[in-house]
Amino acid sequence: MNNVLKKIGDIGLVPVVVMDNADFAVPAAKALMDGGIKIMEITMRTEQGITAIKKVKEAYPDMLVGAGTVLSIEKAEKSVAAGAEFIVSPGLNIELVEWCQKKEVVITPGVITPTEVQQALKFGLTILKYFPANIFGGIKGCEALYGPYRMVKFIPTGGVNKENLADFANKSYIYAVGGGWLCKPEDINEKKFDKITQIAKESVDILLGFELAHIGINTKSEKESLAAAKVFSDAFGFSLKEGNSSNFSGEGIEVNKSKWYGTMGHIAIRTNSICRAVYYIEKKGYKIDWSTRKGTEQKPVAVYLKNEIGGFAVHLLQK
Ligand code: 3PG
Repeated sequence: MNNVLKKIGDIGLVPVVVMDNADFAVPAAKALMDGGIKIMEITMRTEQGITAIKKVKEAYPDMLVGAGTVLSIEKAEKSVAAGAEFIVSPGLNIELVEWCQKKEVVITPGVITPTEVQQALKFGLTILKYFPANIFGGIKGCEALYGPYRMVKFIPTGGVNKENLADFANKSYIYAVGGGWLCKPEDINEKKFDKITQIAKESVDILLGFELAHIGINTKSEKESLAAAKVFSDAFGFSLKEGNSSNFSGEGIEVNKSKWYGTMGHIAIRTNSICRAVYYIEKKGYKIDWSTRKGTEQKPVAVYLKNEIGGFAVHLLQK
């Protein structure tokens, strides 16, 4: 897959930024990065958009910067020359798509209807903005379109915010979620950069949806495992579920039938998306042991971190 597209999916959030004053572009980019979001879609809605793209790319070459609200080839040319690495248009503009494909620039055009999806598919485009998402059914609208078009993933944008982000975050057909809530023009213009960072952090947390799934206890044998699981079930009324390599008491306690990973045992952390979770935790310096992966490369369902934490092996678990 194209590297830019892959990054958009890994980051999973696309701040749509309307820049009234390009002098604030770099601090706004820094505020987002401090909140963990290394991507910006700077819109062509203001005169300052092109200069803003240039300034951010010069200051932070690592930040993925795209141009949004691109309505003409001329604007696409200018934004790419300024450093934009992807193009977003609110609707499907065939000439623009052709230009982007000729220039090998990623484009995620907006669609709403099956006809538009089919037109996009003719160009081999399978990652599409769904805009304006809130007016056209939100997650229900995306789900309905995904029904017949299983090869498509959406970037819903328009009316998404911290309050409804969770509805989108745990769906396999949602490639990323875009929106202005992540970097509001009023916060930029009033230099409330700490607020932008805070919203970014909270949004990343919602996106990843980390929560404790279960703890894993190591035992030496099948007999020992079953005995321990039975005690938990007897004492607390958790239902006993016998498995191949382990027994569960309730959902929260796994008792392994052998010495499994982890000096003390293991802890499972559930997430909306293992791929995204890996992207974010690797950025913090934690390593993944891919040899422990369960599921496919595209759709991992579990994978361990390389190092133990407090004597426990830790694995991610797909919700
Ligand atoms: C866009 O161009 O994608 C939308 O204007 C973003 O909409 P929002 O501000 O409601 O998130």
